[in-house]
Parts: sequence; C-alpha cells; structure tokens
Amino acid sequence: MCGIVGYVGEQKAAPILLDGLGKLEYRGYDSAGIAVYDGKKIGMKKAKGRLKVLSELTHDGETLPGTLGIGHTRWATHGEPSDVNAHPHLNAEESIVVVHNGIIENYMKLKKKLIGRGYQFLSDTDTEVIVHLLDYYYNGNPLQTITKIMHRMEGSYALGIIFKDHPEELYAVRKDSPLIVGHAKSGCIIASDVPAVLKYTRDVYFIENEEIVRMKKDSMEFFTVDEEVIEKESVHIAWDVDAAEKGGYEHFMLKEMYEQPKAITDTFSPRLKGNTIEIEELNMSDEEIQSIRKLMIVACGSAYHAGVTAKYVLEGMARVPVEVDLASEYRYRDALIDEGTLIIIISQSGETADSLAALRESKQKGARVLGIVNVVGSSIAREADNVMYTWAGPEIAVATTKAYSCQLIALYLLAMKFAKVRGTITESELVQYIEDLKRIPDQVELLLNNKNRIQKFANRYLAARDVFFIGRGIDYAISLEGSLKLKEISYIHSEAYAAGELKHGTISLIEEGTLVAAVLTQENLYKKMLSNVVEVRTRGAFVLAVTNEGNDQVEKAADYVIYIPKTNQYFTNSLAIIPLQLFGYYISVGKGCDVDKPRNLAKSVTVE
Ligand code: M6R
Repeated sequence: MCGIVGYVGEQKAAPILLDGLGKLEYRGYDSAGIAVYDGKKIGMKKAKGRLKVLSELTHDGETLPGTLGIGHTRWATHGEPSDVNAHPHLNAEESIVVVHNGIIENYMKLKKKLIGRGYQFLSDTDTEVIVHLLDYYYNGNPLQTITKIMHRMEGSYALGIIFKDHPEELYAVRKDSPLIVGHAKSGCIIASDVPAVLKYTRDVYFIENEEIVRMKKDSMEFFTVDEEVIEKESVHIAWDVDAAEKGGYEHFMLKEMYEQPKAITDTFSPRLKGNTIEIEELNMSDEEIQSIRKLMIVACGSAYHAGVTAKYVLEGMARVPVEVDLASEYRYRDALIDEGTLIIIISQSGETADSLAALRESKQKGARVLGIVNVVGSSIAREADNVMYTWAGPEIAVATTKAYSCQLIALYLLAMKFAKVRGTITESELVQYIEDLKRIPDQVELLLNNKNRIQKFANRYLAARDVFFIGRGIDYAISLEGSLKLKEISYIHSEAYAAGELKHGTISLIEEGTLVAAVLTQENLYKKMLSNVVEVRTRGAFVLAVTNEGNDQVEKAADYVIYIPKTNQYFTNSLAIIPLQLFGYYISVGKGCDVDKPRNLAKSVTVE
C-alpha cells in the first residue's frame, strides 16, 4: 500500500503534491518523492524517511517549479526503503515519469525482456518496469501506449504518469488499487484516497478497474482499456479529514479488518501459478525442502499465535515436526538446532526486539532462517536468510488483524508447498487446497458483513469481568488470538485454554454468567468440544459458539452460535478469527476504550 497524488493546473504543483502526500502518509511512510514538469524538464526529488525529509529537501516544494506533477509516499514492497527505490521513476531520457501503488506480479519476466532490449534498471522496484515499458511502446500517443502496457502487466496498479511531450496533460489508470480524481484549485488532482483531495473538492470520481483518465487544467476525460470514452458521475464526500483517513470507518482497526479480503488475496495471488505454488523468495530446491527434519517457529504475540496454528497445519499437511516458541523464551533456552532445522521468524513489524534476538541467536548457531515479515526492509527482513513477505500493507491499529490474517496465508502456502514437495499430499488434494484458499477472501467478506449481529451480542457483555476462550487443536490456536484481541483493546481479563485442560483447574473459575467463547471448527474434535461446552454450561457459563455451517447440534449446547462458511480443516482459523476480532472490537468501542491505541501498548515492541 502506497499513496499517490498528481496535479495539473494553474497553481504550483509541488506544494499541492506535498500537502496531499501528508494526508496519505498513513498508507506508507518509508520514503517519498515528487516529480514536477516546468515545461522544460522534469525535476524530481526523492528521499528515504518520512515526508518531512522531502519537504525540507525541496523547501516545501519551492525548489521544484511547474504546474504539472506527481508524488508518492511509499510502503516498500519490492526493494528496501531507499532514495533510489523511492518513486517517482523516470525513463533514461527523462521524458516519462511514473508513480505507482500496487504490485506488478510479472515484473521479473518483464524486467528480463526489457534488459534484453537494452534497458538499464537503477532500482529494485517492480515499478521501474512500468516506466521502461511505457518508453518501449511509446508512439507519441499516451493513451494508446498506456492501454498497450495494461495488456502486458499482471497484478495491481494505480498509476500517475506524465509524458514530457504532452506538457499539459496528466494521465492516471488503475487496476485493483484505489484511485480517485477531482477538480482542485484551478486544475485537476488525482490521489489514492479521499483525504488528499478534501482541501480542494468534496466531489470526486472513483476510477474503476482498467479505466484511464486524461486530465488537463480544465478538463477530465475517462476511457476504457479499448480507448472508448466513458461518462462518469461524481460522488459527494461528506466525511471530515479524520474520518476520511480511516476510509470512513470509525477506527483504523475496523478499516484494517475490512482490508483483510484484499490483503489475503495480495498475499497468496503472486504465489499461485495455476495449480502450483511458487515461493521464489524461499530460494530452496526441492531437495533442500525434502531434507528439512524440523521446523522451529519463533515469534511474539499474535505472530506467535499464527505460529501455533501453523504447527497443526504443517505437521498435518506436510508431516514435518514443528516446534513453536515465544521469542522471549526461545532466545534464552539454548534450543537444539541442527543442519536439518529451518527457523521461521514471524513478525509484522520486523523490528520486535525478542524476535530479532531469536533470529540472531539462530544464525549464530548456524541455522537457516526464513522471515515471514510485513515491513519490507525491516531488521528481520534484512537479517533473515530468506524473506517471505505478507502483503498486508501498513497496519496502524496496535491490535493486529490484517497482518495476522496474512501471516496465516503465508504459512498455509508454505505448508502446501512443503507437502507437495515432500509427497505428503496428492496433486488433487493440492488443487482442492488452492481452491479453498482462493475462496477465503469472499468468505471473510461475508463474515465481516455479519458485524451487526456480533455488535449486538458484544453490547450485552460490556461489563464482563472474565472471558474464557476454549478450543482443541487449531481451535485452541484461534482461541489464543481471540482472547488476545479481546483483552488488549477492552481491558477485560480473558484466557484461552485447550478445552481438554479445563478440568485440570480452570473450570473452578466458571460461575453463573461467565462468558465462554467456544471454537468448534475441527470436525474430528467436534464431539469432544460439545462435551466441553456442556461441562462449562452446566456450571453456569453463557456459551458463545463459533462453528462450521451445518454443525446445528451445537445449538442445543450453546447459548449463541456464529457459523463460519465451509473450508478444509486447516484453513478454519482464517474464518473463525473474524467474528472474534469483531467481538473484541465492539466490546472495546462499547466500553469507550481507545481502540487503535490501547493503554500501555506500542505497535512495535523494539525493547526487550
Ligand atoms: O511486529 P510483530 O508481529 O513482531 O509484533 C508481535 C506482537 O508484538 C504483536 O502481535 C502484538 O501482540 C499485537 N498487539 C497483537 O495484536
């Protein structure tokens, strides 16, 4: 997720671009850049770091004159945060310049072809292929050239483009990445999101997939990929700037929950090639995968919970032994590692002190380390031997939702890949798993749309003192995460227990009215779980059950039931966690807590 802006008009472009980027910094903030055309040359400045570095560098835009420009605030995907990887990107002749939000999935293939045709690449980004492709196909007609490259690019993009020989025109196009346009101060403005344009207009056009816009200072034309003109209606935006940053949602946490379907798709789609799984960044031959004797997953908080799920998935599917450790424990326990061990460190931020220390400890012992990380160029990403990125985009709320969901997806992909290579699943089983994986985004969407029912239920429990989450197998892992979501943002004491363990002590805490959330998604454990539900209910508990569609029997045992759509036994976490995230969220909202910034917590725990 990055932020793009563009302006063409009568005003100086640079200050408008910087102002717009300031409103989009929540979409990415590791580097920023602007390019402005003054009628003679395209001037460009880019800088690693927050936007203020760029503002200082350009004296708030004063050093870049001109009334046509584009800008970008970056959340690195391909290539670590640096001046050279920052956008915009220019062609060699400095006659075409581009900003991009999204991921070009076939960029390696395109890059190879372009290199073969003599193009030189300066950055590690996928975006640079776009500007060279434009250069390669450019025939003096920007619209035709843009449609040509659209047919060649796979993936997602929102682009702002300037062609030097069309000094009064700004072009924009999108596919699967957001883009809006509006009339600004005596001109037109494009942006990734509404906050960047609110100062200038409240009437915007939402660009749909594969639509192209040509803007001049006093006109705006919309085209299809077949260059046909389209008529569009503007939409009036009533939000204030604060609400607009959150996309109209009340909190970043809710917005990020709603971003899960897209984040999940972004995480799996570049790694699915037909009916095979390709994780190039693993950089492991089939022989190396076959020779793994043990996996050790090390992480903190929710990332650890994703690891607990992965133990069941990897052991079940790929039949490889998995140990899961809290990084804060692992780093001091002198774990036994040999050359057959692969260490997997999971981290959203890539900066968690304990996880980083665990990585260094593992490397010192000679182990190979794979990082599953969200922030490109973070310490864990840099120091791991190999990195598999989750493409969740920036996560602002302290309580993780979309990054956790993407960690699960990355781990499922790994399990499927290992299972296929190690021969523990058949071709047809793999195909079925891939089908199930592709269905997850829509299923998550469906569950999110059921939020009112969960909100109503949550409102009844605002005064709860203790909540227990119980489950077996993967359902225990889901319970761990459900419980953490609730307690960290609502300050209600909550515990997750392996349901079979209850009777060894914890059940004494159950009394009249205690809320117990029971997760029952594992068919082989369903009957056992039903017994556990009865056990707590007969001691006075009020039971909220989360189970698979069709498991109606639970209606008799529990007080309130939430059904999740059908998937295979390994992927249920991705669905069952959604109502639990919503439950924690609505309890927190109902209690008037600071949802996005809970007390005593930080987004990234960089101290021990
Ligand atoms: O950035 P990381 O994934 O390494 O962070 C790990 C934990 O600090 C994090 O998951 C934390 O538990 C969150 N507050 C959970 O919502």
